[in-house]
Parts: sequence; structure tokens; C-alpha cells
Amino acid sequence: MAGTEIFDREEIKAVADVIERRMIHRYGSHSQRGGIYRAEEFEAAAKKITGSRYALAVSSGTAALITALKGIGIKAGDEVITTPFTFIATVEAIIACNAVPVFGDIDDTLSLSAASAEKLITPRTKAVMPVHMFGAAADMDAFTGLGKKYGIPVVEDACETVGGSYKGRALGGIGDCGAWSFDPNKTLTVGEGGVVFTDDPDVYFAMDCYHDHGHIHSKEHDRGAEGKYGFGVNFRISEVQGALGVVALSKMPEAVAALRCTKKKITEAGVAFGLKPRPVHDEEGDTATHAVFILPTAAAAREFSAAAKEAGCGCGIIADNTWHYAKHWKALAEMSEKDFFGTKTRSYLPEAFAGADEKLSRAVMFGLNIRMSSEDTDKIIKALEAGAKAALRG
Ligand SMILES: Cc1ncc(COP(=O)(O)O)c(C=O)c1O
Repeated sequence: MAGTEIFDREEIKAVADVIERRMIHRYGSHSQRGGIYRAEEFEAAAKKITGSRYALAVSSGTAALITALKGIGIKAGDEVITTPFTFIATVEAIIACNAVPVFGDIDDTLSLSAASAEKLITPRTKAVMPVHMFGAAADMDAFTGLGKKYGIPVVEDACETVGGSYKGRALGGIGDCGAWSFDPNKTLTVGEGGVVFTDDPDVYFAMDCYHDHGHIHSKEHDRGAEGKYGFGVNFRISEVQGALGVVALSKMPEAVAALRCTKKKITEAGVAFGLKPRPVHDEEGDTATHAVFILPTAAAAREFSAAAKEAGCGCGIIADNTWHYAKHWKALAEMSEKDFFGTKTRSYLPEAFAGADEKLSRAVMFGLNIRMSSEDTDKIIKALEAGAKAALRG
């Protein structure tokens, strides 16, 4: 799913233009830049997609998540509920704020179960972070309902699902804040980059200042002469990434359509072989970056995986994924039941993830690319056939 697949002259032109104008900083030099602000154009294109009031481009998806948590005021010792099936960055963002990650269970779509999240709410809970994994949305109606019921902000990790939607609304723009990633492994990439969304002017102000050392950005003042608000960090994006982002978002519909077309073929073939695709909350909004099938047992998933490999196309069993499943993170396990900035952490030992394990150990997945040849697709279909024969016999 790496977006460099679709790089062409457009990206070269966009980058060359920034370099030729020698205007690489997104802020300042207002009188010399001829009114050209590429990072701002990227933000404008992003918020047009989500319909959000504000979009802030930052240096990565991880930076977007940290900025969102800081923007809503997450403090040391606050609890943030999230899912054990996510890229490690979601949890790193919580820990970077010295907040305590609290893990819910996952539902049949493999995303955070809103019902399990509700049971974990305490007076210390200051955010809920559903993650849209492997192309498909979490149950956003349930999460926005939960947020309203308990007055807790919902921070959507949509880092993997730029271009996805839930009931007609773009992912990243549904929660109180949302984050996108454009890292080198994403369907659309700018090298490294992210975008964080919100509709709340106060949250946006806090995020905008935080991501750039507290600068209160204003075109009335040149760089360094503006006001300062609190402490921050440097999560700025450059004009190079901004220019690449404008091109990336213009290619988004075509990229997602190609992925959906490939996934449809693979899913239909899988169903014909008796396989059960992962159910999703909104089929139409799936960005189709992965084809996931759920086997009846963990043993069947192992048999499937071995037969698929034998047939020439290996697949992953999600429970084995070391970067995307909290059970495997030693540093997290070591944080179990410790005093963490005034809050006692939960157990993060492998046993704590038994519910997720039951589902993830039965889930097999194939990653898809935007430009897949019919031979590539056929290879996966052959693997599905071999896997289904081995795993579903009897
Ligand atoms: C679910 C999820 N959250 C956050 C991130 C972090 O994004 P980045 O790599 O841009 O920091 C990723 C990236 O893989 C991700 O998949």
C-alpha cells in the first residue's frame, strides 16, 4: 500500500517548484513568497474532504495523534481508552502525553468494541481513541454516542484510512479530533507527514501553537515576531511535504477506487471458496488496503496460512503481527500495574488480551497495492483456494 507506486511527473514538478522558489518553510517570509503557501493548500484540500472546520498538517501521523491529545488537554495520569489491535504509534502517542493507555476489547470487525470501552470509563478517562484498522471504520455512531453520554472527547486514529468513510462521512472528521498519516507505507504518502482535524476553535488554537513551539501564527507578523502560547514541540511540516500532499489528495479517489476494485475480486473469490470475509461497519467506506478473512479456529488459520504460502502467496495471521498488536510489546508489559503519574496502570501482560487474541488468531490478511496486475491478484486467489481447501475440509 505504498503511495510511491503512483508517483509521477506531478510530484516531481510540485517538489521542484518549492526548491526553485527556495521557499521551504511553511511559516514566515510573507513578503517574499508571492502568496504561495503549499502546506496551507494541503490543509485546505484535507479539510474539504472531511468537512472539518480546521485541519493542521504536521510531520507524521504519530505527531498528529500527540497534537490531538495535547489539544484536548490530556495530562499526566489521565486515562485514554483504545484498542489492542493498532499500530504501536497510537499507544506511543498516549504514553508521550504521560497518560495511561487502557485497552478495550475488539468487536467482530476487529476494531475497538464500544461496549467494552464503555465498561472501562472511570472519572480519570479523558479520551476514547477508536482506530480504523486495515481500511475499515470503527463503529463511529457508537463512539460519538459514548463521547456525548460521558462528555469524553473521541479522538479518531484514521492514520491508515485516508479516503475512507463511515455512513458517508470521511474518516478523521467524525470525532472531536481525527488524525491522518502520509508515511511511506500509506496508500498516499508525502514521505513523512500527517494531518489533524477538529471543529473546535480552542482545540485548534492549542494544537496549532503546540505543534510549533507555541508560535501564535499570524500573517501580520514575520517569523519570530508573533506571540507565544505555552510550550510546544517541532511537529511542523515543510512546504515540500505540503506540495506533495496537494498532489496526493488529488489522486486519492483514483487510488481508493483501484484498491476497492481489487479487493472486490479477491473477496468474491474467497466467498466462493467458502471463506468468511471480515465484517465491516460500512462496506462502501472501506479503503480496501487489506483483504482479511476470519477462519473458524486459530488452528484453521495456521493451516490456511501454510497452504497459502505453499501455493505461492503468503498471508499474515493478525495475532502474529508484532507492530500492530499490543500483546507483543515488551515495553508495555513492563508498565503493568505501576504507578504512572499518579494513576495505577492495568495489567498489560499477554493474558490481558485474551479476548482480542481469540479473534486476531483466526484472522488472516493479504495487503493490497494500488497498482496490482491481474497476475498479482490471481496469485492471491490461488492462495485463497489452497488455504480454504486445507483449512475448511471436513
Ligand atoms: C493506526 C496507525 N496509527 C498511527 C500511525 C502513525 O503514523 P506515522 O507513521 O505517520 O507516524 C500509523 C502508521 O502506520 C498507523 O497505522
